[in-house]
Amino acid sequence: MRPLAPETLIDTDALAERIGEMADDIARDTPEDAELAVLIVLKGAFVFGADLLRRIDRRTRIGFLETHKDPERPGRTDFVLTHPFSIENSDLLIVEDILDSGVTLRQLQQRLRARRPKRLRTAVLLDKTARRTVDVPVEYIGFEIPDRWVVGFGLDDEEAYRNLPFVGWVEQSPNQGS
Ligand code: IMP
Ligand code: MG
Repeated sequence: MRPLAPETLIDTDALAERIGEMADDIARDTPEDAELAVLIVLKGAFVFGADLLRRIDRRTRIGFLETHKDPERPGRTDFVLTHPFSIENSDLLIVEDILDSGVTLRQLQQRLRARRPKRLRTAVLLDKTARRTVDVPVEYIGFEIPDRWVVGFGLDDEEAYRNLPFVGWVEQSPNQGS
C-alpha cells in the first residue's frame, strides 16, 4: 500500500508565501482596468489555481480545461474547455501544476494562441528543470524542484494524494501516466 504521508518537499507555509508573491507579480503586470481570463488546467492545477486566484488583486474570469492525449497521434496533446470560455482578445493566464518535459504545455500554448487572445501568459507552480526537452515560455514559476515524482497540492500518483496540503514526493507507480 502507498504511504499515507509522503516525504515533504515544499511545506504549506512555503507554498502560501510563494503563491502570494506570484499573485503580486501577476497583478503588477496586469493593468488595473484589465480583466484577467484565468484558465486552470485540470486536474492538477485546481488547488494551486484556487489559492493563486484568491490573491490576485484584479478582475478575473475563470475557466477550466482538460488536456488529453490523442491515441491516434502519439505525442500530441489536445484540450477541451469544460465550460464555454471566450479566449479571443482576452488577457489570458494559463495556470498549470508542473512543467516536466514541457511538451504538454507547449502544445497547449500553441492551441490557445490560435484562438487569438490579446495576450498570453503562463503560471506554473513547479518546474522540473532537469527534464525539459522543449523550450516553453513561462512568465511565472513557483519553485524549481529536483527530478522526483511529486504529489499533493493537486498533483497525483494514480489519482492518490491530490488532497495533501503540501508537496511531497513518492516512488512513482510503474503504471502512472501523466
Ligand atoms: P510534460 O508534458 O512532460 O511537461 O508533462 C506535464 C504533465 O505531466 C503535468 O501536467 C502533470 O500532469 C504530469 N506530471 C509530470 N511530472 C509529474 C509529477 O512529478 N507528479 C505528478 N504529475 C506529474
Ligand atoms: Mg496526473
